[in-house]
Amino acid sequence: MTSQRALLLAIESSCDETAAAVVSQDRRVLSNIVASQTELHERFGGVVPEIASRAHVERMLPVVQAALDAAGATLADMAGIAVVTEPGLVGSLLVGLTTAKTLAMVLDVPLVAVNHLEAHLYACRLAEGRDVFPAVGFVVSGGHTNLYDCRSVVEYELLGTTIDDAAGEAFDKVAAILGLGYPGGPSIAAAAHTGDPRAYSFPRTFLHDDQPRFSFSGLKTAVLYEVRGTPGSHRPAAPLTPQRVADIAASFQAAVVDVLVGKCRQAIDHLGHPRLCVGGGVAANSLLRTELQKMTNNRGVELIVAPPEYCTDNAAMAGLGWELLERGQTVPLDLDVVPGLVRRR
Ligand code: KG4
Ligand code: ZN
Repeated sequence: MTSQRALLLAIESSCDETAAAVVSQDRRVLSNIVASQTELHERFGGVVPEIASRAHVERMLPVVQAALDAAGATLADMAGIAVVTEPGLVGSLLVGLTTAKTLAMVLDVPLVAVNHLEAHLYACRLAEGRDVFPAVGFVVSGGHTNLYDCRSVVEYELLGTTIDDAAGEAFDKVAAILGLGYPGGPSIAAAAHTGDPRAYSFPRTFLHDDQPRFSFSGLKTAVLYEVRGTPGSHRPAAPLTPQRVADIAASFQAAVVDVLVGKCRQAIDHLGHPRLCVGGGVAANSLLRTELQKMTNNRGVELIVAPPEYCTDNAAMAGLGWELLERGQTVPLDLDVVPGLVRRR
């Protein structure tokens, strides 16, 4: 099949979103289709890997077709296929990779493998329509809390991550403790509106050490003990009134945001890059955005937060594949997925 136009088909299925996008060589997103599985996982309070893989199998081809249709493109227009191969749920990643390999083989076009976290950072480049690197990169989502040294559009060095829960995961778990809805981020943010962020003094783990690392399990446990009472204590927990829920939500959110902003500040001071690029679902949090804006303004650093449609999981961000394709960084058809987060460089 000969290529009519130089387009890239990008596929993402690392967690619970089945996504496909068409990106032109001048880095314009011609379509960006995301089939969310939130309704399938909601009642479990988190993503169930087996359910996710099966849903990807059902949805992948319709999503790819929808992406082609929305872009006014056909498979013959593709100059390559980009697919997210790491990190993520193994079964979910495999559905995307198998689809991408099949298409690359049938169309006889190159296959490029994209790292999901690097793609989250690349989303800032796509959204801005200009080069945004070098920059400090921060991916803050339900699965990750990662700081990066983004030296160029293809050089992303992982500086540090969380030693336990991701920030979004902490939002989700604390929301469950407070009886709020899933996903927890938006429901905690909404409850926090009428709460006092100083009502409870929750821990800000690692805020004052100079390592690029995070930990949210102590904070989560502190909220649990506040709500249910401390084990072994004779003091019963106070009833969970709507005001108490709001105060705990606001105090929890303030603690998370303090740590996230503090660690970004450290990385900026350490690396001296002129920009901070932020991606991932938690970047939708308005307190986080306000505090990051204040901090970067004070340092004369530009803040770029990917817009909502590129912030949560999507395939357009795998337009990063163009950078790899143009540099000849293609992968063979026997490539496997890499489910775990690995330091590649
Ligand atoms: O990037 P994402 O859509 O999926 C992955 O985890 O890869 O991020 C989802 C996470 C969830 O944990 C959700 O609770 C969190 O982002 N989130 C928020 C907000 N909106 C979504 N966290 C805090 N505040 C928000 N407004
Ligand atoms: Zn993600």
